[in-house]
Amino acid sequence: MTLLTVRRDGEIAVVTLDNPPVNAISEAVRKGLFEMVGQLDADPEVRAVVLICAGRTFLAGADVREFGKPPVEPHLPQVVDRIEAARKPWVAAIHGAALGGGFEIAMGCRFRVAVETARVGLPEVTLGVIPGASGTVRTPRLAGVEAAVDLVTNGRPMPAGSALKVGLIDAVVSDLEGDAVAFARAALDAEMPMPVSKRPLEPMPEEFWQKARKAAVKAGHQAPLRALDSIRFATEHGFAAAMAHEREAFLDLRGSDEAAALRHVFFAERAAPKPSALKGIEPRPFKLVGVIGGGTMGAGIAAACREAGMEIILIERDEGAVARGLSNVAAIFDGAVKRGKLAEAGRAERIAGVRGSTDYAELAQADLVIEAVFEEIGVKRAVFAELGRVCRPDAVLATNTSYLDPRAIAEGLPHPERFIGLHFFSPAHIMKLLEIVPTPDTAPEVLATGFALARALNKMPVQAGICEGFIGNRILKRYRAEAEALVTQGVAISEIDAAMRGYGFRMGPFEAQDLGGLDIAFLQREGARAAGEDVPETLGDILVRAGRKGQKTGGGWYDYVEGDRAARPSPRAAELLSARITGEQDLPRPEIAAHLVRAMASEGAAILEEGIAERPEDIDLVEVHGYGFPRWKGGPMFASRG
Ligand code: NAI
Repeated sequence: MTLLTVRRDGEIAVVTLDNPPVNAISEAVRKGLFEMVGQLDADPEVRAVVLICAGRTFLAGADVREFGKPPVEPHLPQVVDRIEAARKPWVAAIHGAALGGGFEIAMGCRFRVAVETARVGLPEVTLGVIPGASGTVRTPRLAGVEAAVDLVTNGRPMPAGSALKVGLIDAVVSDLEGDAVAFARAALDAEMPMPVSKRPLEPMPEEFWQKARKAAVKAGHQAPLRALDSIRFATEHGFAAAMAHEREAFLDLRGSDEAAALRHVFFAERAAPKPSALKGIEPRPFKLVGVIGGGTMGAGIAAACREAGMEIILIERDEGAVARGLSNVAAIFDGAVKRGKLAEAGRAERIAGVRGSTDYAELAQADLVIEAVFEEIGVKRAVFAELGRVCRPDAVLATNTSYLDPRAIAEGLPHPERFIGLHFFSPAHIMKLLEIVPTPDTAPEVLATGFALARALNKMPVQAGICEGFIGNRILKRYRAEAEALVTQGVAISEIDAAMRGYGFRMGPFEAQDLGGLDIAFLQREGARAAGEDVPETLGDILVRAGRKGQKTGGGWYDYVEGDRAARPSPRAAELLSARITGEQDLPRPEIAAHLVRAMASEGAAILEEGIAERPEDIDLVEVHGYGFPRWKGGPMFASRG
């Protein structure tokens, strides 16, 4: 395989780069491009150059295999400068994605054309760094400061159409190579634009920077702020000074804990959807999907599956419940319309694909059925007895239980190899995590179906073994218990919440319980007590017994006034709990957070040891995608590594 090939089309040289699978910018690519400039500059017959990529994408970014390794010459900024300084104009011909260094190379070119489906962007901040090869310096010169701030601090790639509007690219074309050559030829007859690095910049008013700063702070980690700072510096200094400034910030961030954590999550996410044990195993199809129960979870699951193109049959207990279930699903699509994410016609089409019924016989042809009825073993077993009677023997049957033992739910089910736990998170059409819980009977292709479903739904699958709460809720329980223990030692409830917010969670453990309601976990503990288990009384139990179930009852750990979600320290809660508060601990917030994260990690270690999770990364993914653990801290296992 040749990395770079050159073809001539009259006076235009077409350079094709082929570095499968994504044309990552490896050392060889950098060197090849660098030398190519000299070679084509020296060729008197060549007047312009088109740079195009083979395979499914333009240069899609840095070579992840070179992450964390010392950089080797030529460095990317040198390559970009070299292309820009070429004596012949280069035209980047973009398909797929031009991301990170790939887009920086495109900015070194004099022109950029792209097919309509292409995306361009500088996603470096999502890996905890900033662009390191002029992304923060050339982008504002190319497309203006506002577009640059948007592109660089959010890290979200832009589709070709929007990129054209803001000036990141020069044309949207259909026949990429042919049109790029024609574009290059036409450009030779017109006035040549200045190289991007030489273009002037508009200074921005102080208010603009203040506003952008506020938005960047929200990300919670430093890269978006540093990116913003770099762009600002670039607008106030010359090109060379700005490049040096950008490089310094890039190198500084590359070695940061946050970047290491974000890389960790990135690699964990890449590995999660394709467990090696399932290699070569064909999943079963899931076109016609049954959902049992149209409550909070059933409706969300139905909407998610429908959104991914499946046909849905929603089964409920009676006609009234069917109507409620269908309206729960419709409400989700209405919400999407309101937020501008779905057109009216799309809404009608989605809703037409969700049928409601009380008759299980409707599921005779279903490929997959997901149960989301009340969390009661008797109710669930009755549902699966019915499914066992009506469904095809090869239909995959899944439970969404949070705490019950899937083996007990499936007891007596004919063809138990088709049964599996698929634990969605609320709201199911939004939350990315999907815990996949096979029983000892689950067939490999049924497990593979769980993973394939996750992919179809754009969710993050993590396989979990069977224990109470699986991975996520088990760690949550420990986290809450540990937080309660701190309260009994005298640490203020509001300090604990503030500590976890300071760490990067959106909410602390007590605020989160007040929002979700304290009663669910309470009822679960009461159930265990009724079954004869020895479950010590928690502080939450005391509050629920006093009628304090959270925001919905006007108070829980905190007090709330109607119409206001602000948590106010509660004298009543303090009074109720006073007998249990035995210490007068006063811990600094970072110590509180470190203590609670260590507790999560220690539960995680037990989970690993018992084989409930296979890899520590899986535990981190569960926490990041299901429980609001800050991505830039990497998850509890990563954060507590030795
Ligand atoms: P929910 O109470 O909102 O909905 C349950 C629905 O099931 C109700 O609409 C009810 O009418 C229906 N139902 C009950 N028995 C039925 C039967 N025999 N046939 C058909 N429909 C029946 O409950 P939610 O919150 O949706 O929970 C459902 C399941 O999902 C539970 O197992 C729960 O543990 C689990 N889960 C809940 C999460 C949550 O955050 N709410 C998160 C993850 C899992």
